[in-house]
Amino acid sequence: MAPLNIDHLSPLQKTLLITLNGRVVDAARRRPLLSDAKAVELADNLDYDLTTVKLTSGVPEAVAIRSRMLDRAVTTFVREHRDAVVVELGCGLETRRWRLTASQDALWREVDWYDVDFPEVVELREKLMSETERGHSVGVSLLDPSWTDTIPKDRPAVIVSDGVLGFLSEDENRRILRRITDHFPRGQLVFNAYTRFTARMNGRFTKVVGMPADFQGYGIADPTDIVALDPALTYIDEQFGDAAPERDQLNLAYRLLAQVFANWRGQARRGVWIVRYRF
Ligand SMILES: C[S@@+](CC[C@H](N)C(=O)[O-])C[C@H]1O[C@@H](n2cnc3c(N)ncnc32)[C@H](O)[C@@H]1O
Repeated sequence: MAPLNIDHLSPLQKTLLITLNGRVVDAARRRPLLSDAKAVELADNLDYDLTTVKLTSGVPEAVAIRSRMLDRAVTTFVREHRDAVVVELGCGLETRRWRLTASQDALWREVDWYDVDFPEVVELREKLMSETERGHSVGVSLLDPSWTDTIPKDRPAVIVSDGVLGFLSEDENRRILRRITDHFPRGQLVFNAYTRFTARMNGRFTKVVGMPADFQGYGIADPTDIVALDPALTYIDEQFGDAAPERDQLNLAYRLLAQVFANWRGQARRGVWIVRYRF
């Protein structure tokens, strides 16, 4: 396959390269945290020099750890709901489905996956990844309420999102959350949150793909801020990358820092911060 040109993607859409590159850099490490071979294959098929997507120290580890944490949350939900739908908001070139179903475990047999992103991104995804019977693409902006139209509304749903909601405004987040709880009968929402402080830094990390250097994303002070946006959500828990089992695979300096931060909630929230809600 000839490498695919992605010059037509907007800077916001190109932020998918940051998380993709995090997985690629992790996979090249001697002791990877995620070992995502599919991400490497996708990157090899892009006509884009990923070395220009510079990641600051610790970012590949953070991307790999939050991928693992979100993978676990999805798996836990599916264990209890074998007929679930998994909905990936702002899927980019996320490879969760390949990671989780690689083992051919019977667990995933009845699960349907819906990957939602802008039409341009979904088109790219479809060219790069061969679809399976259970995989469905939804090429619609999350700000268009029709994004839920093709997703079953009579099955339990786990809505997962990595690095997306922080790019939207508070009002946009409110609209998306309300669309979720209006459409789906029951389920869970799990995503990585940003503090207000880390959200203000967003442009510093995303300018490598053309986002404005002063871009400020959406951050929260507390997980209950999300419930205030949509009272149909019930807060379940927060989890910190600093306390995740993967921290034991980090180098000594990061491991020691993580051990300290894991017991210092304000600081742990500035790292990998996963929040879960039920509806
Ligand atoms: C940082 S990337 C993360 C991609 C993917 N979740 C991952 O982990 O690799 C953010 C993604 O959110 C998508 N996105 C941002 N705003 C969106 C919107 N309004 N509707 C659909 N997707 C959106 C972008 O196109 C991009 O793919």
